[in-house]
Order: sequence, then structure tokens, then C-alpha cells
Amino acid sequence: MSIFSLVTGRPGPSGFGSASTAQEVTQGIDATNLTVLITGGASGIGLETTRVLALHKAHVIVAARNMDAANEAKQLILEEDENARVDVLKLDLSSLKSVTEFADNFNALDLPLNILINNAGIMFCPYQLSEDGIEMQFATNHLGHFLLTNLLLDKMKHTARTTGVEGRIVNLSSVAHIHTYKDGIQFDKINDRKSYSDKRAYGQSKLANILHAKELSRCFQEEGVNITANAVHPGLIMTNLFRYSAISMSILKFFSFFLWKNVPQGAATTCFVALHPSLKGVSGKYFVDCNEMEPSAFARDEALARKLWDFSNKLIGSVSKA
Ligand SMILES: NC(=O)c1ccc[n+]([C@@H]2O[C@H](COP(=O)([O-])OP(=O)(O)OC[C@H]3O[C@@H](n4cnc5c(N)ncnc54)[C@H](OP(=O)(O)O)[C@@H]3O)[C@@H](O)[C@H]2O)c1
Repeated sequence: MSIFSLVTGRPGPSGFGSASTAQEVTQGIDATNLTVLITGGASGIGLETTRVLALHKAHVIVAARNMDAANEAKQLILEEDENARVDVLKLDLSSLKSVTEFADNFNALDLPLNILINNAGIMFCPYQLSEDGIEMQFATNHLGHFLLTNLLLDKMKHTARTTGVEGRIVNLSSVAHIHTYKDGIQFDKINDRKSYSDKRAYGQSKLANILHAKELSRCFQEEGVNITANAVHPGLIMTNLFRYSAISMSILKFFSFFLWKNVPQGAATTCFVALHPSLKGVSGKYFVDCNEMEPSAFARDEALARKLWDFSNKLIGSVSKA
């Protein structure tokens, strides 16, 4: 997909493009038998994703740190469709303890899990450490999702095996993954305050989202597991994500309005990758505007993906020991 396609909305090989909405790309799909877990599904792109998946009759569990917002989001969806199956559960991705508690609570519900959408995120925040002492964008955008996915994998594998229905994991990345630190992931300086750049730290965490999906996909293929893992860039959409850069982004949007999408368009790639039958068996890929695209060289680096996997496990191990 080129800038021309982005601006004009011209469809790509999938038949969809930047102008396609989440409802359009999932038209006619029946998700009655699917249980979906989405992080940050109470606002922005995540809320629209929840709404559209619920309209297709999926059972959607919204994992949110703000339960008032999550309950409001649920109410909004129920007003549109009183039969929608939406539940909310508390999760703070920046806290490994909260992620573990969430997974325990979710597993205790004894629900199946077909689709996991790692959607929540923060962007460009000033330097801060999570309660576990980890740089906040890496902790929230990558590490929390990494642990969450690991803790839900047995459940997803069991569901895929017993139902015969392909499981899917979708990681929300960003085109910003190309703007990262010089080594891609700065393993030896993950919490370094001196070299911290709010933009590069965001890019690094979004690179990690792609590498995470890539390594998951490799493991699934090696184990012969019927689950796919892919990453997406949703496009540029004005949401609360821009809270730390609202003024500069509003100015940028004024001059580049032709590059921006609305929220229904922003949720399209996630919904497409989560539900579309044409992607059966497609795994380890990166999607933009509902079409496969090649990500950066770092994001295609299998050794880097494995290194990040081991690093993330060690980091989580060191926090739980402390
Ligand atoms: N918007 C864009 O232009 C754009 C571009 C590229 C990629 N993306 C990616 O798309 C995803 C969704 O972004 P969005 O634009 O929809 O932003 P958003 O409206 O700010 O939504 C992000 C969601 O993540 C939640 N969240 C943040 N920190 C969390 C934490 N510690 N624990 C649990 N939930 C947390 C937020 O909850 P609160 O409401 O409590 O903050 C919110 O519900 C992100 O991963 C982002 O990186 C967005």
C-alpha cells in the first residue's frame, strides 16, 4: 500500500483499503461462537473494535484499567444492541501483579478464548517507571501484553484444540516502530533515563509488538498449534492516545488531514485480521490498511525477536523475584 492508496482509499489486494471501516471489512461474518479478549477496549480504536465484534455476535471481554469508562462503553454498545455480549474486567498492563491477577480472574471464569487483541497503549509519555521499575511505555505496550499473552496461551491452545477453530492473536503496533533507538531494542538501557526519548521509546515498544507476534507465530508453527499471531498498524486516528502531544498533533493534523482516518476506519485493520476468513493460516505478518505490508528490517529480524522473548521472560522473572 502506497501513500497514494492511503490518501485516495484505493483498495489493495485484500479488496479493502484505508477508507474501509471495521463494519465493512467484517460484513456477513458470524462470530457467534467466538470469545474475544481485547485490552483497552473501552475507548478509541479499541471501543470501535469491541462494538463491531459484539455486533457480529462475538462474546467480547473488555480488559480495562478504568472500570467506569469500561462500564460506560458496555452500556453504549447495549443501547445499540441489547443482545450484545460484552463483559468488563479490570486490568492495568503497567503492573505485572495486575496482569497476573487479571489472568487468574479470567481463567476462573472458565470461558473459551479464541481471539486475543493486544490493543491498549500509551504514547510519548514523559520518562517514568512502572510500579515494577520498568520504563512505562515498554512496560505497558510490550511487557504487560507479553505476560498477559503467556498466561492465556494454555487457554487459547485448549480452545483451538477442542473446537477446531483457529485462534488468533492481534498485536496493535504502529508505523512508528520504524522510529526506534539505534539498536532497535536497547536491551542494556531499557530503563535509562539519560538516553530516554519519548518518541523513540514509543517506537521501540511498537517494534516489540511486531517482534512479539513474529516469535509467537514461529513457536505456534513449530508446535503445530492452530493459532495465528499478527501485528497491525491501524493508521493515524485522533484519539486519547495523543494526550501527551495534543497541541503539536492537532497542528500536524491540520497540515496533513489527508493522511488521517476516523475511528471506524482505524478499527478496520484490527477487525479484518481478527475475523476475516481470507486470513486463515496467515501468521507472523504485519498489516496496514487491511493489507499485508513489509515492516522495518528490525521488525523482520528473527534473532532480535528471540532475543526480545528471552529478555522479556528474564525481566518478568527478575521482577517476581524482587
Ligand atoms: N491512534 C493512532 O493514531 C494510532 C496509530 C498507531 C497505533 N496506534 C495503537 O493503537 C492502539 C489503540 O490506541 P488508540 O488510538 O485507540 O488510543 P486510546 O484511545 O488512548 O486507547 C488506548 C487504550 O489503552 C488503555 N490503556 C492505556 N494504558 C493502560 C494500562 N496501563 N492498562 C490497561 N489499559 C491501558 C487506555 O485506557 P485509559 O482510557 O484508562 O487511558 C485506552 O482504553 C494503541 O496500542 C496504539 O499504540 C494508534
